[in-house]
Amino acid sequence: MADEPGQPPALTTLSLAEQAPSSHAAEQRITPFDVSGGVDETGKLLPVDYNKLIQQFGATPISPTLLERFEKVTGKKPHRFLRRGIVFSHRDLEKILDRHEKGQPFYLYTGRGPSSGSLHVGHAIPFEFTKWLQDVFDVPLIIMLTDDEKYMHTPKLEISDSKRFTIENAKDIIGIGFDPAKTFIFSDFDYVSGAFYENICRMAKRITINSVRATFGFNDSNNVGEFHFCATQSATSFATSFPHIFGSDPLKTRSIPCLIPCAIDQDPYFRQCREHAEKMKYKKPSLIHSIFLPALQGPGSKMSASIDISAIFLTDTPNQIKNKINKYAFSGGQDTAEKQRELGGRTKDDVAFQYLTFFLEDDNELEQIRHAYEKGEMLTGELKGICIKYLQEYVAGFQERRKKVTEEMRREFMAVRGLTWGGNPNPVPTELVEKKGAQKEKEKCGKPTGELKN
Ligand code: TRP
Repeated sequence: MADEPGQPPALTTLSLAEQAPSSHAAEQRITPFDVSGGVDETGKLLPVDYNKLIQQFGATPISPTLLERFEKVTGKKPHRFLRRGIVFSHRDLEKILDRHEKGQPFYLYTGRGPSSGSLHVGHAIPFEFTKWLQDVFDVPLIIMLTDDEKYMHTPKLEISDSKRFTIENAKDIIGIGFDPAKTFIFSDFDYVSGAFYENICRMAKRITINSVRATFGFNDSNNVGEFHFCATQSATSFATSFPHIFGSDPLKTRSIPCLIPCAIDQDPYFRQCREHAEKMKYKKPSLIHSIFLPALQGPGSKMSASIDISAIFLTDTPNQIKNKINKYAFSGGQDTAEKQRELGGRTKDDVAFQYLTFFLEDDNELEQIRHAYEKGEMLTGELKGICIKYLQEYVAGFQERRKKVTEEMRREFMAVRGLTWGGNPNPVPTELVEKKGAQKEKEKCGKPTGELKN
């Protein structure tokens, strides 16, 4: 995600808006390196249109029926991110649910480009959700730290900086609360070799310069490392890249797929991966996408680590949180208390309310706040006060856990070692699932005969 020092800020919309001549609208633009919701003819920032994005990307919205199935198969009430459309779209999630139901193996894969020393709460969102998925499914989780990606993409960054960020970010990620027995965190600079490198090359051989240009908006001025990196991010989607976790017989492990929780801007990498996976005799990865936590300045952008006043950092003090929300959080309320009482506020545009949808667990309380704010019974100051309280609570909880993360723990998470996990404790036997009419899984790529020749 485009947060690194020396890069154009991820908050591109703000700069777009400043530069846009008032008569020129700009389309929204979402790639792994650029997130901006677009600008209208008057220069006004527009919120990211996620429905349009799903259509453009060819992903599938998460429907109430899919959530019902999720609940039935896992026995768990869907996470508030799922209930509220924060995790809003997917690719082949139902295949993962089918496997979980039958007790067949799969793993979770997510990652981070270590582009700065400290994470902000926006970075924590996909990780919070991933932790919940790990608890629900009880499966291995692989977290990739793409220090090579950030090094190649960021003109000013030295390898030593990138490695330092990797170590700091790994500790923050551990502070989210992952289980060391089932989590492997790795740095590309350290782990690229052996079976993983073979998969990177298998993938690189199939990805053309044309397709990278079209998918990521690169041109002839991008360096070859940026082009090649696409293969690296994809190769983590294959269980054969991790013999220490899944075993060293690729004929057995090549049919183990993964589920990738990520922010929607990472989808382009995995579209490419999915295009080639089956030709490599692997399974396509499944994906589950989240929206971005908006920047304090409004819903047309995402928080940026390089713009301090755009984000709440996981290192912020209670006072800093309070001041940032009070001073910078874009309000959907009216200019005066009288007008607010008369007309009510717009929760859709209101950053404090939007943050509550991410951090407040209780559905009833959230609905009461929405109602009161929209009806003008609640004023902006009061809404901001509630938001400050929940954000302070979240950040303090994180800081408590982060304090306990030692260098020794980090080494353990990042050691190449076996993992232990339970999976579904009560799988439904395959024949029963099939008799019940559940969609039969298509084992297109799993015939365990012959060598891996590609
Ligand atoms: N490219 C991502 C970033 O810059 C890091 C990443 C690698 C990732 N693999 C991933 C993110 C899988 C989500 C899921 O942050």
